[in-house]
Amino acid sequence: MKVGILQFTPIFGQVPGNIFTVQKTISQIQADLVVLPELFNTGYQFVTKEEVGELAEPVPNGFTTQRLVEMAQKNGLFIVAGLAERDGDRVYNSAVLVGPRGFVGVYRKAHLFYEEKLWFDPGDGEFPVFDIGPAKIGLMICFDWIFPEVSRILALQGAQVICQPANLVLPYCQGAMVTRAIENRVFTVTANRVGNEHRQADEELRFTGMSQVVDPKGQVLFRLGETEEALRVVEIDPALALDKKATKYNHVFDDRRVDLYGRLRQR
Ligand code: ACM
Repeated sequence: MKVGILQFTPIFGQVPGNIFTVQKTISQIQADLVVLPELFNTGYQFVTKEEVGELAEPVPNGFTTQRLVEMAQKNGLFIVAGLAERDGDRVYNSAVLVGPRGFVGVYRKAHLFYEEKLWFDPGDGEFPVFDIGPAKIGLMICFDWIFPEVSRILALQGAQVICQPANLVLPYCQGAMVTRAIENRVFTVTANRVGNEHRQADEELRFTGMSQVVDPKGQVLFRLGETEEALRVVEIDPALALDKKATKYNHVFDDRRVDLYGRLRQR
C-alpha cells in the first residue's frame, strides 16, 4: 500500500486556490491514500466566529468535499483531508475521507486546541475506522494526539493506519506519535502544514511541518522538513499492524489490565 502526505502552506481564506494546489500535486503521483493537513482549504487562524461560519461548508455536499471526491475518482485513490464543516448552526473542525467511489465518512475533532474552542463545536461522534481495501484506517485530528485514548480506541477497532491531519504549533506531537505507533502497533500518518499565520496583531502562529509516517515498531519511515512543501509517498505493509505482540510474551491489547483502569472513565 502506498501512503502519501502533502505538506504545504494553505493561504488563509483562499479556498479554491488551496484546492487547486492539492489538485495539481496529487495528479503527479501514484498512491492508494494521501493525507492532507487539518483545515487545508481555509487556513487556521480565525479571528471571528462569523468568519468560520462563512468559510465552513456542509459535508458531503459542500464545494471542498465535492472537489476532493473528483480528485479521488480521477486519480484512483483515497484522500483524508481536514476542513471546516457546517451543520445547521454548528461548526466543526472535521476530517473527511473520500475515495474512488465517492464520499466515505467524516470525523469531527473531539479535542479542540487553544482558540479553536472559540470558533468550533467539539465533535461528539465515534472515533471512526474505515475499511478502504488495502487497510483499515482510523481518523483523528491534530491535538487528539495528546489523549492516548483516541489512538487506542482506533487501534482496538482494527485501524492499521491512523491518519492525522494536523496544524501543529507545539513541538511535541511528532515525537508522541512515535509512541502512539509503538503502544498500539499501528502505522501513524501525520500530515502537518508549514508556514506562518499572523492574522491577530498580538499572535503569530508558526506551523512546524515535519509530517511523518511511522511504522508499528516506531521507525520513522520518513519525516519532512520544518519548512519544505512536498508530497512524499512511502510503501507500507499494513499487515504488520495486525501483529500486536511486543515480545513473545507481551500482547499490547490482551495484556491490558482493564480491571485496574476504572479511573479512566471518571472525571
Ligand atoms: C492543533 O490541534 N491544531 C494543534
